[in-house]
Amino acid sequence: MSKVTVVGAGNVGATCANVLAYNEVADEIVMLDVKEGVSEGKAMDMMQTAQLLGFDSTVVGCTNDYAQTAGSDVIIITSGIPRKPGMTREELIGVNAGIVKNVAESALKYSPDAILIVISNPMDTMTYLAYKSLGLPKNRIIGMGGALDSSRFKYYLSQTLNCNANEVEGIVIGGHGDTTMIPLVRLATYKGLPVGSLLNNEKLVEIIKSTMVGGATLTGLLGTSAWYAPGAAGAYVAESILHNQRKQIPCSVALDGEYGESDICIGVPVILGKNGIEEIVELELITEEKELFAKSAAAVRATNAVLKEIHVL
Ligand code: 2OP
Repeated sequence: MSKVTVVGAGNVGATCANVLAYNEVADEIVMLDVKEGVSEGKAMDMMQTAQLLGFDSTVVGCTNDYAQTAGSDVIIITSGIPRKPGMTREELIGVNAGIVKNVAESALKYSPDAILIVISNPMDTMTYLAYKSLGLPKNRIIGMGGALDSSRFKYYLSQTLNCNANEVEGIVIGGHGDTTMIPLVRLATYKGLPVGSLLNNEKLVEIIKSTMVGGATLTGLLGTSAWYAPGAAGAYVAESILHNQRKQIPCSVALDGEYGESDICIGVPVILGKNGIEEIVELELITEEKELFAKSAAAVRATNAVLKEIHVL
């Protein structure tokens, strides 16, 4: 029996739970929210698709009752407020830090061995907060941002190449922020061919820019943060862990000298399996990429510093 808890049944959390159920990633998915009846209603709605979609997973909703989450293998945290048009992810820190810390502590009381996946924004800083405050080994704390950003990168590449996104390889490392993420265009390929041999520089620069503001573009269109891809990215990360797939996925993880950084959670490729982070993959970056990574880490660190200022750490 495998069990996943999704904390927060808003757009992202509910989408994540829906993908987990539809893909039968876990036997049981518990959605927990503070709003009375919302997660119960969404869980019931999802269960009424089980026959239509042909899945056997069970989805349960509950209002703030952490006892129902007991024994979860994976806890996915989506709680907090989403950004509005014009806002950066970093502006959410004051409200979201307290919420994330509180829900992580409550959930871990009932599932002390769980692996934590953090989706709430600002994602790298919320992952760092979990890493610094919960006392869990670093293989059990994973921020989902790079999975989402890499999927958006592959989307933009496939749109420009007019090809199937599943036939494109692309990695985004660095922070999950409009100015901090680093789409590694040098390493992106289509069917084994470097995309640099297929697209001119102008097009590549355009793809990098679109990827970096991918979330902001959607916030502008929707009036709130996106949810389909963020929710699916959370489920994708959970699946590699629960099914011990050992996929290499860029995620925000605690670094201890890798990529020249320590005391930070930031996006790098990791192998995800039954123990959470099985391995941090150290790519051989060129000078320019190393400089971008150092700059990104400095920006993430500046946001992390706010945690102390607001006394959450
Ligand atoms: C996004 O990029 C919500 O951070 C998330 O859409």
